[in-house]
Amino acid sequence: MSLLNYMKTFITGSSQKRDNKSTVIRSNNNETSITFDPQKPPPEISEQDVEILKDCWKIVQQDVAKVGVITFVGLFETHPEVHEAFMSFRAVNTSELEYNAILRAHALRVMGTVDKCIYRLDNRDKLRELMTELGIRHKNYSVKIEFIDLMGPQFISSIKPHLEAMWTEEHEKAWENLFRLMCYYMRKGMCSI
Ligand code: HEM
Repeated sequence: MSLLNYMKTFITGSSQKRDNKSTVIRSNNNETSITFDPQKPPPEISEQDVEILKDCWKIVQQDVAKVGVITFVGLFETHPEVHEAFMSFRAVNTSELEYNAILRAHALRVMGTVDKCIYRLDNRDKLRELMTELGIRHKNYSVKIEFIDLMGPQFISSIKPHLEAMWTEEHEKAWENLFRLMCYYMRKGMCSI
């Protein structure tokens, strides 16, 4: 490892190695090891997945703000380091009321992205465009690429209680596949700049 990469790993806790084919992200926390190859094809979502996602979304939408906030609170509780990345939530003089309003507004924007992706499942080029551009913006917010995949599992845990009566393994897989696809394009965008 070059001195520059070593320093980067030391300071940020992660390293990114780039060649013209792949981007390899390694965290020096032994629990995380991600290899991202932007040349790999996007993850697949079946017709059955699409049907399940659209059905579930109609129900989840009724409680979208609550689900969004629970997703973020869960994410920050399980991964406090992610919280640090949300600059706007870190201002020392932010009152609890302001903090809650910022958290709620941000959660709603993320839920809005899920909504757009579900409707863009019928137009995958638009989904790719939306998520790649969002990935580029996240790179500009200095979000670490290895944080991106943490959102899906938290989101799935927060929608489950709303869909308890209908939830099956197929539901779990359909949501996992959606987030895999969303995060694939986000990471691809992040690697493109
Ligand atoms: C599937 C995953 C995610 C989605 C769909 C998502 C979506 C969004 C959206 C829609 C915005 C509003 C601004 C914009 O459109 O550019 C945003 C802002 C932001 N996101 Fe994400 N995000 C995701 C994951 C993450 C993760 C894991 C982090 C970790 C730190 C993060 C950090 C931020 C930050 C720092 C901002 C901008 C600052 C702010 O609004 O406070 N995002 N995100």
